Amino acid sequence: MPLRILGIESSCDDTGVAIVSSPRRILSNVVISQNSEHQYFNGIVPEIAARAHIENLNKATIAALQNSINIESIDAVAATCGPGLISGVIAGSMFAKALSSVLKKPFIAINHLEGHALTIRLTNNIQYPYLLLIMSGGHSQFIMVRGLGKYTILGQTLDDAIGETFDKVAKMLKLPFPGGVEIEKRALNGNPLKYSLPKPMIYKDSCNMSFSGLKTAIRLLIEKLNNSLDTTTVNDIAASFQYTIGVILKSKILSAIKLYEKKLEQVTMKSNKVVISGGVASNQYLRDILKSEVELKNYRFFFPPKQLCTDNAAMIAYAGLERFIKGITNDLNFQPRDKWSIEEV
Ligand code: KG4
Ligand code: ZN
Repeated sequence: MPLRILGIESSCDDTGVAIVSSPRRILSNVVISQNSEHQYFNGIVPEIAARAHIENLNKATIAALQNSINIESIDAVAATCGPGLISGVIAGSMFAKALSSVLKKPFIAINHLEGHALTIRLTNNIQYPYLLLIMSGGHSQFIMVRGLGKYTILGQTLDDAIGETFDKVAKMLKLPFPGGVEIEKRALNGNPLKYSLPKPMIYKDSCNMSFSGLKTAIRLLIEKLNNSLDTTTVNDIAASFQYTIGVILKSKILSAIKLYEKKLEQVTMKSNKVVISGGVASNQYLRDILKSEVELKNYRFFFPPKQLCTDNAAMIAYAGLERFIKGITNDLNFQPRDKWSIEEV
């Protein structure tokens, strides 16, 4: 009999419920987005997000079950227990604990970043180890993934996350929320070389990154243009910004590969795989340029389908499945948390 895990995700502004069965099959994957609730504020309002999760969790669970199986045949319930907006994490994890308790099935606490880290094993069945670049709204990290629960951060942003930078620049350009995807659209019609923007830390031979200076440069550029944001200007700024992020990431991925190879040597492992994941990994421009850069180094490049790059519960259910197979479950008194390093899972 295949194992079936119900996963719950609520760490940001998407409510997700999914069922994944062993070895790697998504039976259902429901995501209820809250874009319309947050659009007016041009950003995520934690209290509104938590209330919406409470409303949507039940709906999403019913929809996920309708598309697939009877709730009694679930083997375990996995939920994001952090990191993220704490009110949303509490809503989802309490809901999951209640389900686990009523169904008398084990509860599994999942680190959201572990969900992003393992998605590629669900979709492409790739083997450990691999070098991972997580690019989301809250995190930007290069991670050596050696096995389930064995993660080493090789480098990360020292200030804003990449997704956060996309969102903040989009807001300055008066683009609708959520901003990342809008920037990508507008960049398609813009000139990427129109504005020369700073590339902080690009020459440092580490894979740490910094994006706040780039964000400030765009604010100053908009001020210099007297805030006259006509369509061409917005398209050109979007394209120049996305191009600059690309240049930074191309350089940083090479530094990360160097460090990864050193670390692999220390543990006498070999692997030439680079994986990207997280919301920003759904950006086609960044996928294309990172792919060519990585392939020049004779590495293979992997990315999940776009709907599994952005937040979803299939990745949480899958991380739960890997943990369940290894016999790892959690007590119902597991504390949800807003900060939780992937190295500490
Ligand atoms: O992983 P995710 O869905 O949620 C977090 O865990 O944060 O990532 C959301 C982030 C947002 O900042 C969003 O603007 C960004 O991913 N994003 C994109 C694109 N789609 C989503 N950024 C750039 N280009 C995109 N196509
Ligand atoms: Zn995420």
